[in-house]
Amino acid sequence: MVQESKAKQSCRIRAAHFGDYETVSDIAGDVFAAYGDYSEVLPGYMFFDNVQTFVCEVEDRIVGFIQLGFVPDAAQGGRVVADVLAVGLLDGYRHMGLGRALFQRVFDEMEQVGPARGLFDLWLTVAHTNRPAIEAFTRLGFTFHGEAVGIYEGGQRALRMRRPIEQGGDS
Ligand SMILES: CC(C)(COP(=O)(O)OP(=O)(O)OC[C@H]1O[C@@H](n2cnc3c(N)ncnc32)[C@H](O)[C@@H]1OP(=O)(O)O)[C@@H](O)C(=O)NCCC(=O)NCCS
Repeated sequence: MVQESKAKQSCRIRAAHFGDYETVSDIAGDVFAAYGDYSEVLPGYMFFDNVQTFVCEVEDRIVGFIQLGFVPDAAQGGRVVADVLAVGLLDGYRHMGLGRALFQRVFDEMEQVGPARGLFDLWLTVAHTNRPAIEAFTRLGFTFHGEAVGIYEGGQRALRMRRPIEQGGDS
């Protein structure tokens, strides 16, 4: 089913700070409830040196976030990969361009720091039932890669997707 985009919404994307913990926790608990309780684990990543969290504000209200981690990937023999650990927008703020804006921030970051780390791909994991997210990730250039890598608490299969990072910008 093709879904019409709503009117585009502008937003401010900024690095999260520790004062955002409660808000990120509330959003994570709400948005990922079908897959398990992520209200502590995801905001907890904000304290990790190897994870960057960006929030998306509309009229000074945080309505979503994205997390980029540099983490070992068991499916690849423990090699460190760049992984979108979480991305989520409150219901009512989806399908109006904010997800693309959050991803663009991560793509820009990866273009800056990826090659120096020897990382040229961006990874993520998505539940096999999450059709809207799979559609959006596909539009954003991700493709499926490999077998399911696990099962969410909610029972859904966890699928891996991957997107190459552009390298044209550095000269
Ligand atoms: C997944 C998510 C982050 C996407 O963000 P979004 O703001 O809805 O996506 P955007 O509006 O920026 O759309 C990005 C692209 O995907 C497309 N798209 C988004 N949702 C779509 C859908 N349901 N069906 C088809 N295409 C879709 C858009 O048309 C757009 O493509 P375009 O820019 O080339 O026109 C958001 O929907 C969300 O938070 N979902 C709930 C949480 C979740 O499931 N997170 C992922 C867990 S792994």
